[in-house]
Amino acid sequence: MGKEAERWWSKDTVAVVTGANKGIGFEIVRQLAKEGITVVLTARDATRGEAALESLKSQGLHNVNFHPLDVASQESILALAQWLHNTYGRINILINNAGIVIADKDVTFETVKPVFDTNYFGVKNVTKALLPLLRDDTPGGARVIVVASSVGQLKYLESKNYVKTFSDREHLTEESVDNFANHYLKDIANGSLKEGDWVDISSMPGPKFGRPIETYAVSKAAVIGFVSVLHNTFFYQPGSGKKINIFSCCPGYVSTDINTNSGGNSVEVGADTPVWLALHSPEGGSGKFWAERKVIDF
Ligand SMILES: NC(=O)c1ccc[n+]([C@@H]2O[C@H](COP(=O)([O-])OP(=O)(O)OC[C@H]3O[C@@H](n4cnc5c(N)ncnc54)[C@H](OP(=O)(O)O)[C@@H]3O)[C@@H](O)[C@H]2O)c1
Repeated sequence: MGKEAERWWSKDTVAVVTGANKGIGFEIVRQLAKEGITVVLTARDATRGEAALESLKSQGLHNVNFHPLDVASQESILALAQWLHNTYGRINILINNAGIVIADKDVTFETVKPVFDTNYFGVKNVTKALLPLLRDDTPGGARVIVVASSVGQLKYLESKNYVKTFSDREHLTEESVDNFANHYLKDIANGSLKEGDWVDISSMPGPKFGRPIETYAVSKAAVIGFVSVLHNTFFYQPGSGKKINIFSCCPGYVSTDINTNSGGNSVEVGADTPVWLALHSPEGGSGKFWAERKVIDF
């Protein structure tokens, strides 16, 4: 996959991390800040975000700033974009980490919609709003990382048609990924879905979370597909010389609040691949799906 980049970052490098008040996002901020990068820790709840900031400061990390961001709110996204523009002018790294799963087994349109608004539409809207702020002159190109999940891999999808559409990554369009997400939401709204209609939960590794994991898996498949679309559109912009590297990755199974489970990896391990991608942006790796610092199958 090409050799790793030299150390190119400094305190003038600006990284933005979503959903960073706890869990893997908080650890991503901590690891980037330890590298001397200026990091913007964002969180949907200001009290939780400020508390996370204070915790990092107490560890001697003063190169972190906080700004609120609810990725499911366009108003909140635009407020962050404006603040970043006013405060730093441009940014170098965006890590879309915020993610949710349905907390109970009650899978209805009302419970499923916020999962898509966060895990798929939220990532799209944040990335689109911040793309103009990504610096053209970042050595090796600016970097966008999406923390997805291996449960979004195509091998778990039941629909052969969608597997075919997503497999042709060079020709995948934003419209076709939207259609996929909206089709699932429509099926949920119709109330006609049974467990296993969209995703083969039984073949997934790790604990079986039932129907909530189906929704989560479909939303993560959509966002991994969206990374391919972004890569096709923005990796090189002919004539502009602008280069943006866009990666999706799985942090592995990590013990955090999202899975209410112990027995997973530590957040240090979970943050490793997203941070490594942000720093080293392996050549030839943009648009691909990563885990444990390696490309894995979508
Ligand atoms: N842990 C795992 O095993 C695992 C495996 C594969 C992928 N992942 C992915 O890793 C990422 C981080 O998860 P985690 O394990 O660290 O879980 P976590 O501890 O539950 O953290 C999730 C973070 O996302 C934030 N968030 C949720 N909705 C948001 C919104 N609308 N706007 C902004 N922030 C929002 C949460 O904020 P609040 O505190 O306000 O809720 C929290 O800070 C997620 O994308 C997840 O899907 C995790």
